Amino acid sequence: MSEPFRVAVLASGSGSNFQAILDELHHAPESPVKVVALIASRPGIRAIDRATASGVPAVVLPDPSQGREAAASSLAEALRDAGPDLVVLAGYLRLIPPEIVRAHWGRMINIHPALLPAFGGEGMYGRNVHRAVIERGARVSGVTVHFVDEVYDHGPIIAQWPVPVLEADTPETLAARVLGVEHELLPTVVDAIARGHVQVAPSGTCEWSVPWFDGQRFAIESDAGGGRSASDEAAASRSDDHQPTQE
Ligand code: GRF
Repeated sequence: MSEPFRVAVLASGSGSNFQAILDELHHAPESPVKVVALIASRPGIRAIDRATASGVPAVVLPDPSQGREAAASSLAEALRDAGPDLVVLAGYLRLIPPEIVRAHWGRMINIHPALLPAFGGEGMYGRNVHRAVIERGARVSGVTVHFVDEVYDHGPIIAQWPVPVLEADTPETLAARVLGVEHELLPTVVDAIARGHVQVAPSGTCEWSVPWFDGQRFAIESDAGGGRSASDEAAASRSDDHQPTQE
């Protein structure tokens, strides 16, 4: 049997995207992916309970008030101990120190609940993103998964999927619709990276050797007809206590 592809997940909140990786990949018999660590930016978050329930070791980083260098070295140590092939930021709200980004270049990804480069950057997290999308009058939002560079929400885009913004949307209803798509797209990208189907080209953009696009699986879903989509249901069950906070 070939070696598992080791994934470390960093989270700050509910961890519903972490759960999607556990469900779709870690617990799937045919998947090369094994989640080897959850690294939490604070104690008491639901992501830690999810790790415990799946037997994944969880590490809680110390409070950032101890200073930038100490925080950076705690994170570096947690990553060294985990020895991941890929680091996944799944609702992780602290900036990754540049030296750690450089050490994991092309092996660290982030999920963002909008179509970058719009509605990204510092302060654009959680409900702030969806509120900004609605206030700006955007008709389409979506999900972006990208490699991490030294700037918030900026590295090479790996995959995106659009989600409609409906007339009656609030930040909460839009967040739920977007989150359902996140739970599909993030495991898809992690699996593709594990299988060597996508990488950063020397030009700085992502190259896929096997197409990821599947119009059936990622059909644009809307609740315009009144019912909740399958993605909405999945999002609701995974994110029931999601309360992002900036750290
Ligand atoms: C998601 O919307 C993700 O895109 C953003 O933070 C949220 C995390 O949700 N970066 P969860 O903790 O995975 O439920």
